[in-house]
Amino acid sequence: MDLPYAEPYRNKTIEPLRRSTRYERDAWIAEAKYNLFNLRSEYVFVDLLTDSGTGAMSSAQWAEMMLGDESYAGATSYYKLKETIEDLLGFTYFLPTHQGRAAENVLFSALIGVGDAGAGKVVPGNSHFDTTKGHIEFRKACAIDCTIDEAFDTQVEHPFKGNVDLEKLESVLKAYPRESIPLCMLTITCNSSGGQPVSMENIKDVSALCKRYGVPLFFDSARFAENAYFIKKREPGYEDKDIRTIVWEMFSYADGMTMSSKKDGIVNIGGFVAFKDPELWRKTSTFNIMFEGFNTYGGMAGRDMGALSVGLREATEFDYLESRVGQVAYLGRLLTGYGIDVQRPYGGHAIFVDAKRMLPAVPKEEFQAQTLGVELYREAGVRGVEIGTLLADRDPETGMERYPALELLRLAIPRRTYTNAHMDYVAAALANVKERASAITRGYRIVYEAPIMRHFTVELEPAD
Ligand code: F0G
Repeated sequence: MDLPYAEPYRNKTIEPLRRSTRYERDAWIAEAKYNLFNLRSEYVFVDLLTDSGTGAMSSAQWAEMMLGDESYAGATSYYKLKETIEDLLGFTYFLPTHQGRAAENVLFSALIGVGDAGAGKVVPGNSHFDTTKGHIEFRKACAIDCTIDEAFDTQVEHPFKGNVDLEKLESVLKAYPRESIPLCMLTITCNSSGGQPVSMENIKDVSALCKRYGVPLFFDSARFAENAYFIKKREPGYEDKDIRTIVWEMFSYADGMTMSSKKDGIVNIGGFVAFKDPELWRKTSTFNIMFEGFNTYGGMAGRDMGALSVGLREATEFDYLESRVGQVAYLGRLLTGYGIDVQRPYGGHAIFVDAKRMLPAVPKEEFQAQTLGVELYREAGVRGVEIGTLLADRDPETGMERYPALELLRLAIPRRTYTNAHMDYVAAALANVKERASAITRGYRIVYEAPIMRHFTVELEPAD
């Protein structure tokens, strides 16, 4: 028989977790104003809030931490990272930043401008991540989502739901003058629409279209290795290619990239922005020096750059990706087995539970996915995150709520951190919530919200 995948690593250090009681959790979540971000981590048993910065580093990465060179300029650790980025991704010029959104900030400062310089400008792409959109809108520019329609139905099986609809993209490229489109941003994999990948064919077509209109193409590459894994598994012609060859080809179509290293870099903090064009690197470096730090460390410690250079290589190993994406699918299959509707096909880093289908009686004005997240926490101390109306924020022009097509509860799985027994626990907890779902008819109302990216700090109270 075919052997199943098994993790290509074993545990050397463990971190204890404490289970809590329902009574404790009810008090803690009320104190947290029903915002899961406000919970202390020790109040959480299985933390699936994010796969960002929560992965477990390898012994090789820890060893590299000890070799960290903390020189202000020209650190050895910087050159190790530079070599990895060149070797693996094909970018000669890069700037380290403290995380992904910092990479967005410095890049957009150079390309879109600062202050209100973005007014009248647009950045087309595929379901821009919220910080990406935030940095675009903060500059008064507009992020235009050109994702294929299939992405917005959780039950449609499509191998590459992160794909861009080329007609939608071309209509944007046609409608605005070149100087109003500073860049096109392709997110691989597409977090906001379910951890869904973009096919190589689509990457190639988007690149050709952008070239035709003279618009630079950047990849938001937080989960580029998972994207490459899906190309290998799902796209004809790539089944026999190794991950690194696929990664190399993917980036050959980009002018540059932003990276949140906290995901497929498997480090706890860090990011970078990389370019093929030295002029653009030079222009962006001015902002990086102002906002992040000097060119050879940006927002990162030397030891973290060293660990990242190892992490990027480990994240592009097939066996690692097989067990990583396999664990996500394992949770997906368990939930499907319990009759819970989740985004199909399963994403690379997370399972997205369809909250509209799970809690149909909760009015959309009362935040269905947030309500489901709170219920799952109360049930079992499992923390997910709302990808729905709270995250979507209000329309910056009208101030009206923007109800997204999907109301999802994301269960993001940290890399190399939890076992499949934890996944069994999570699935059983959600099945219990489903069993009492018909009795959940009311959600929450907002007591406090920030003007932008409100979901992090929103305060809620029960609507009934
Ligand atoms: N791009 C994508 C696709 C992301 O998922 C994230 C972060 C960022 C950019 C920003 O990177 O956090 O390092 O500043 N996503 C995290 C998440 C926060 O939970 O999905 P960052």
